[in-house]
Amino acid sequence: MPRILVVNGPNLNLLGTRETDIYGPLTLEDLNERLNNLAADLELELTFFQSNSEGELIDFIQKEAPNVSGMIINPAALTHYSYAIRDAIAAVKLEVIEVHISNLHQREEFRQKSVVAPVCVGQICGFGPYGYAMALSYFSDALREE
Ligand code: DQA
Repeated sequence: MPRILVVNGPNLNLLGTRETDIYGPLTLEDLNERLNNLAADLELELTFFQSNSEGELIDFIQKEAPNVSGMIINPAALTHYSYAIRDAIAAVKLEVIEVHISNLHQREEFRQKSVVAPVCVGQICGFGPYGYAMALSYFSDALREE
């Protein structure tokens, strides 16, 4: 079965309690469980990773990317300034989708720029946790067409 990485950056371990007016009530554990159910239907295997550390995220991407068919990443605040995450994604030559729970374009100006999006297939934002499912559907279709 094709395997997809689902990577979440800083503070996303606090989903469910963190700024619930913006990010909603779902915990990361609940979100991952939902994604696993969807992945089973789509015949995809998921590997989850969350870290609050930029270096750990990069180490994970470097180690796992050569062995998988795609990656869904929510780089959280690193989206807006981490050239190192951007370079890690560009280096591994993998189809990557950037996902955000909130609609960045309705928020502070510093959130409206992603330094990561230019090296991704695309960016999904503003659909809450459903954005991750949308990204998974993309991979399901894209892999079938290969
Ligand atoms: C976020 C948006 C980022 O600006 C923020 O720093 C996050 C979460 C989102 O999913 O909406 O931590 O990536």
